[in-house]
Amino acid sequence: MSKTRILSGIRSSGRLHIGNYLGAVKGMLALQEDSAYETYYMVADLHALTTPYDKEKFAEETRSVIKDYLAAGLDPEKSVLFVQSQVPEHVELAYYFSTVTTLAKMTHLPTYKEKVKQLPDHVTMALVNYPVLMAADILAYKAGLVPVGIDQEPHLEAAREIARRMNADFGTDFPEPKRFATKGEYVPSLSGEGKMSKSVEGSYILLTDGLDEIRAKLAKAPTDERVSNLFKLVELFKHERMEYYAAGQKRGDIRYSELKEELSLAIYEELKPMQEKRNKLTDEYIDEVIKKGAERARKVAVETVREVKEKMGILV
Ligand code: ADP
Ligand code: TRP
Repeated sequence: MSKTRILSGIRSSGRLHIGNYLGAVKGMLALQEDSAYETYYMVADLHALTTPYDKEKFAEETRSVIKDYLAAGLDPEKSVLFVQSQVPEHVELAYYFSTVTTLAKMTHLPTYKEKVKQLPDHVTMALVNYPVLMAADILAYKAGLVPVGIDQEPHLEAAREIARRMNADFGTDFPEPKRFATKGEYVPSLSGEGKMSKSVEGSYILLTDGLDEIRAKLAKAPTDERVSNLFKLVELFKHERMEYYAAGQKRGDIRYSELKEELSLAIYEELKPMQEKRNKLTDEYIDEVIKKGAERARKVAVETVREVKEKMGILV
């Protein structure tokens, strides 16, 4: 029996934070280590083009995500690590998928509406097409499981709908991809408002932050008890101390300085080995990983595109 394929990706728009790590990368790692699965992990550089970017830094940001992946433990011997734009079949497949996707559906997605609010001057065709390209990323590999955070659920629903439509109209055999959830599927912002996100300054801790940076960021985090930000991080990084701090909060004598210091140390302890590994990675090695990954990914994607063209009645 052939293995279930997994696909995931992260946009190359800045360094990864602990929300990305807990919500997406940890799931990617767990599935990589399970021999029931064949794992494909990419850098979604084409998706990063849907919001304003700096062309001088863009290629380096793509490499940087591959570095973060390797530092976190993704292994090119176990997973296919690649860059989305180097497998042009994703774009081709997205075009075919766009023929069964209505504009109404895409413009009603909450993720789309949020971006329109954030960047009213950048409502491009590429932005509307974002979920269609994401569906193509996933379905090019016929992936059944996608390790991503909970905020990506509307995009997965769109991918399932595209899979159903294609199967019904053309007799393809796409699976309906499900989200693979982790304990950290929703990491709140340090400020307590919304989720941790790289587009919100003061909301995140980067995987590359040192102990002093982590301390300084946690020092600014509000300790209002209606805000669950710090408790969520304790739950994720220092689980064994949950009861102790919860009891303190109930009695009203919790010491947040103690909590923050313990939490800083626990987070740093988890990040330190990754940072050490990251520092040892050379650009030559990164480029080699990227090149090999694209070759391996393309083999599968080319096959899916050929099959889709045939089923859609396009001359092959
Ligand atoms: P950001 O919102 O910081 O720009 P992305 O949208 O690039 O992050 O998300 C990359 C991956 O990390 C996705 O799988 C997303 O679901 C996950 N992710 C992002 N932020 C969080 C968070 N705060 N908690 C859990 N997972 C997250
Ligand atoms: N939309 C995802 C994000 O913002 C990135 C992404 C692009 C993705 N294509 C994907 C995630 C395919 C999983 C599968 O994080």
